[in-house]
Amino acid sequence: MSNTDNSRRSFLALAAAVPSALAMASVASAQTSDAGTRLGDKGGAVVTGSSRGIGAATARRLARDGYAVTVNYLTNRDLAEAVVRDIEAAGGRAIVRQGDVADPAAVKALFDANDEAFGGVDIVVNNAGIMNVGPFAQMTDEAFDRMMATNVKGSFNVLREASRRVRDGGRIISLSSSIIKMSPPATAAYAATKAAQEIYSNVLAKELGGRNISVNAISPGAVDTQLLRQHGEEALRGIPEATPLRRLGQPEDIANVIGLLCSQDGAWIDGQNIFANGGIA
Ligand SMILES: NC(=O)c1ccc[n+]([C@@H]2O[C@H](COP(=O)([O-])OP(=O)(O)OC[C@H]3O[C@@H](n4cnc5c(N)ncnc54)[C@H](OP(=O)(O)O)[C@@H]3O)[C@@H](O)[C@H]2O)c1
Repeated sequence: MSNTDNSRRSFLALAAAVPSALAMASVASAQTSDAGTRLGDKGGAVVTGSSRGIGAATARRLARDGYAVTVNYLTNRDLAEAVVRDIEAAGGRAIVRQGDVADPAAVKALFDANDEAFGGVDIVVNNAGIMNVGPFAQMTDEAFDRMMATNVKGSFNVLREASRRVRDGGRIISLSSSIIKMSPPATAAYAATKAAQEIYSNVLAKELGGRNISVNAISPGAVDTQLLRQHGEEALRGIPEATPLRRLGQPEDIANVIGLLCSQDGAWIDGQNIFANGGIA
């Protein structure tokens, strides 16, 4: 066989090998985080209210960044399971657990499930929340009480459990809102529940000092989710025009900030309330 034949043959062998090598590389990249660890090996992450909206985008983002995620929901089991399926299809690890954050026993069970599945918790995103609006004169006791139970007591339940369990070097993040700076009519009770998130975070950051655990709040502007859409198109009218960046937020805009806080690049941010709102507040 001539040298030309040999080199042609080895070129053909190489060419044949390239697609399968590329396919293997793409599987490997789908299953490893930026830091090169296998997806799911970076630690456990509990994201409350992650069946949809900001929580679902956050669950997907943290899974992509290498965390094993416990997806929590209140009523939308199908949506929560779809988030888990997405994560698994991308090579990540996730479990799903129903649980009302307003119930301390359910919150304990949620963290137990995470610890059992993933060996411990490193990230807690205290995201579950509801928004009932109305002027003082029209706000009902039921709407007020349900919001306080979910947003104020529920967040306390989650942060109490987080403070007991998050491992050294971890991150705890709560969802506040830019509404606490803007004070539009009809939002007093909701804004009060979101102001609580800033206070919780500031106090907990100090209580956990010395353990390299950062505790922060994030205050989104108007993000296009069911939380706003349930109040009708009227609730969204004029917001993009009034926003310097001229658009509503998307859940991923907030998940990106959470991803930053959970990364090494965000390691020095602690005890802050970060306003991510396209400039509106
Ligand atoms: N969207 C915005 O413009 C905006 C702006 C500022 C701050 N935030 C805050 O960001 C967080 C997420 O908002 P979002 O817009 O993504 O809301 P969303 O689309 O309405 O999703 C809310 C999530 O919370 C869950 N949930 C509700 N009550 C719960 C409870 N008692 N126990 C456990 N889970 C519960 C829901 O589960 P089910 O699907 O099972 O009901 C769902 O997964 C909230 O804390 C909200 O106050 C949102």
